[in-house]
Amino acid sequence: MENQHLKRRSLLTGVAAVAAATALPRVARAAIATPFSFDLEPPLVDRAEFVEWMAKNRGEDRAFLEQRYDRLQAMVERNDVWDDAVKRAFMLTPREAFVQKINRSHSYDHNFLDIGYGVTISGPHLVGRMTNSLDLKLGDKVLEIGTGSGYQSAVLAHLTDKVWSIEIIKPLAERTRGTYDQLIAAGYDEFKAIQTKSDDGYYGWEEFAPFDKIIVTCGIDHVPPPLLKQLTPNGVMLVPVGPPGAQRVLKIVKGIEADGSTRIARTDIYNGRIVPFVPFRKLDGDRISGTHNG
Ligand SMILES: C[S@@+](CC[C@H](N)C(=O)[O-])C[C@H]1O[C@@H](n2cnc3c(N)ncnc32)[C@H](O)[C@@H]1O
Repeated sequence: MENQHLKRRSLLTGVAAVAAATALPRVARAAIATPFSFDLEPPLVDRAEFVEWMAKNRGEDRAFLEQRYDRLQAMVERNDVWDDAVKRAFMLTPREAFVQKINRSHSYDHNFLDIGYGVTISGPHLVGRMTNSLDLKLGDKVLEIGTGSGYQSAVLAHLTDKVWSIEIIKPLAERTRGTYDQLIAAGYDEFKAIQTKSDDGYYGWEEFAPFDKIIVTCGIDHVPPPLLKQLTPNGVMLVPVGPPGAQRVLKIVKGIEADGSTRIARTDIYNGRIVPFVPFRKLDGDRISGTHNG
């Protein structure tokens, strides 16, 4: 018995050994035969073909792959995702690796899920609509405010190779950094593109500014001026704006007039529908205290 166990352990090498030692779900426990590249095209037209291709090339769990496929169909039907590149990004991102173990069987449910620390991972439809509305292109620099589980930035990393993400809750930021590092060790090279830090995202990330795109995943009653400043001319920001628990998701485009002045165009990506978000909190020294609402 002991010998068999040792023999089995010695067969686990490289990627599988790293992943087996972690708390990651089965998604990351198999070696990834085909590393990510921006021209990777899993077949998206047929469910069985998709599952077969992903199981073979990415070593992921078939049951989760089936659920991922079905969720994408619902997202397309409800017009929450429309570009092929974003559909591919969704289909290549193992959402089950970013939810809490207790919720893993709900990874592809419509709704948001608790991830601890009083915050949530947004539902797949919201992530889809916000991601698609960003108009992200390969090579764009994108900043996310509110790393949370890490799922949103993981989707972004399949669309561009330059992703920054800030999370205010330090232990959550550290836990999520650990998730990315374990997935990278298991062969998800695409997550090397994501740089993270724990800080108050209200002030952006000056060192790497300007950003072509900014996505804010916590709700606030105004557009943070430092974020607007760190957006490139013609840059796009997605930000939930409104009173606590009743935000509207705005798409802000920063235009520059001939005289050099800034012109801000706003549209509501849900045509006025209210979407409640986790509050945009404030750091006071190294303590989280209140919000940035006026
Ligand atoms: C809806 S949740 C996370 C969603 C996340 N994008 C994901 O994929 O799981 C919003 C996150 O914003 C974070 N947050 C709130 N205020 C913040 C701030 N001032 N700076 C950075 N992150 C903040 C919260 O702690 C929370 O993790």
